[in-house]
Amino acid sequence: DKAHIGVTGLAVMGRNLARNLARNGHRVAVHNRHRERTDELLELFGSEGEFVPSYSLRELVDSLERPRRVVVMVKAGGPTDAVLEELVPLLDEQDIVVDAGNANFEDTRRREAELAERGVRFVGAGVSGGEEGALHGPSIMPGGASSAYRDLEPTLRSIAADVEGTPCVTHVGPDGAGHFVKMVHNGIEYADMQLIAETYDLLRGVLGHTPAQSAETFRSFDRGRLNSYLIGITAEVLDHTDERTGRPFVDVVLDQAEQKGTGRWTVQNALELASPVSGIAEAVFARSLSGNTELRAAGSGLPGPRGARTPEREQFVADVEQALYASKIVAYAQGFDQIRAGSHAYGWEIDLASVAAIWRGGCIIRAKFLDRIRAAYEQNPGLASLLADEDFRQALSGAQESWRRVVATAAEFGLPTPGISSALAYYDTLRAERLPAALVQGQRDYFGAHTYRRTDVDGVFHTEWAGDRSEHEA
Ligand code: 6PG
Repeated sequence: DKAHIGVTGLAVMGRNLARNLARNGHRVAVHNRHRERTDELLELFGSEGEFVPSYSLRELVDSLERPRRVVVMVKAGGPTDAVLEELVPLLDEQDIVVDAGNANFEDTRRREAELAERGVRFVGAGVSGGEEGALHGPSIMPGGASSAYRDLEPTLRSIAADVEGTPCVTHVGPDGAGHFVKMVHNGIEYADMQLIAETYDLLRGVLGHTPAQSAETFRSFDRGRLNSYLIGITAEVLDHTDERTGRPFVDVVLDQAEQKGTGRWTVQNALELASPVSGIAEAVFARSLSGNTELRAAGSGLPGPRGARTPEREQFVADVEQALYASKIVAYAQGFDQIRAGSHAYGWEIDLASVAAIWRGGCIIRAKFLDRIRAAYEQNPGLASLLADEDFRQALSGAQESWRRVVATAAEFGLPTPGISSALAYYDTLRAERLPAALVQGQRDYFGAHTYRRTDVDGVFHTEWAGDRSEHEA
C-alpha cells in the first residue's frame, strides 16, 4: 500500500505535522536526513497511526501514491534549497511539493517558477501555531497554483485547527502569497507581543503591580474583547515563579528579546511597498534595542522624570485596556494594509476576509478579535483601512481619551511605549485634515528644487527661493 503523503524533515515541527496527519487517518511516509530521527518517531509515536519509514528521499518518493505529495519541513533558506535539489529530480510531472517552513516569500516565488518549468507543483505554505499547533491543528496558509490546492485541500482541512466547524486553511493566492501572509502574520505577532509587554510595564511602573498582580489583570482582559492566545500565555508567564530563586520568572530572564527574522522581513518588505507598518517596525526595533548592550550602557546614566502623579488604580487599568485594544486595532490595520499592498503589487488577489478567518484559530495571533476583522472585510472587501470600519471606528472613538491619557502617563513616568505611542500617532495622522508634510515639501523645494504641488491649482511648481521668490511651473 502506498502512502498518501510524505514528510521530510522530522525536527519537532515536521514530526508533529506527520503525527497530526497520521492521527487523522492518512498513511504518512516519513524521512529525515539522519535515520535516528525516523526511527525515534516510529518508536515513540508509531502507534498513533500508519507511518512508512523511509531512509532516503528515493525511498520516500517510491512509497507515495500519485500524484505524489511531499511536505518539506526543514530550515528556511539553504537547507530548503538543498532538499529540493535532491528531491525534485526524483519527482514526476503533477507531483506536489509543499514547503511548510518559514520561507521568505521571494524564495517561494523563485522556487515555484523553477519547479513549474519541470511540471512539478510547488506550494509554499505558511504554518502557524508552534509545536502544539502542528500536532493538534495549525493555521495553514498555502500559496501556489489552485490545482495543487484543490488536490491538497481535503488533507489540509483534516489537520488544520477548527473554528466552529470551519478549518483554518484557505488557498491564499498564487506562488509566494502563502508565505507572504505568514510573514505578515509574524510581523503582527511581534507588534501584538510588544503592545502586551508595554502594557505589563505600565502596570508595573505606574501602579507598582507585581508580576502576579498583572497576571490577574491580563486574565481579566482575557475574559473580554482582548481574549486571545497571546494574552492567555502572558498571564501564565507572569504568574510563573522561578524554581532556582523563588522570584518571579520575568525578573530573572535577561531582558534582551531575540528574533529569527520574519518580523524584520515584514518591515523590509513594507518599506519596499511603501506600506507604513509603524507598529511592526517599532516592535522589531524594540527587540533590537533591548539586545543592544552598548547603546543601553551608553544611555544608562541619562536623567528620567523627577516625579509624576500616580493615577487612580481602577481608572488606569481601564485606560490601559482601552489603549491596548486601540493599539491592537492599529497594528492589525497596518498588517492588513501591507497584505493588501502586497496582493496588489504581486497580482495575488488575496481575500482579506478569509485571511482573517483562518487566523481565528491555530496560529499564534489567534483571537476573538479576528472574527470582527473577518466581518469587516466580508461586509466591505474594498475597505481601505480597518480603522474606517464602523465597528472599529466606534471602538476607537470610545478608547481614544483613555489611550491619550496612557501615552501621557507613560511619558510622565519615563516608561517607553513605542508600540502604543506610535499607534496613537498613526491614528492621529490618518485623522488629520492637514499634515505638516506641506512644510517638508517646502523644505525640499528650498534646498533641492524638488518641486511641490498646490492645493488649489493643478501642476508641479517651484519657488525661486534664492532669487525673487517668484513661483513658476516646473
Ligand atoms: C508561528 C510563529 C513561528 C515563529 C515564532 C518565533 O506562527 O508559529 O510565528 O513561526 O517560530 O514566531 O519567531 P521569532 O524567533 O522571530 O520571535
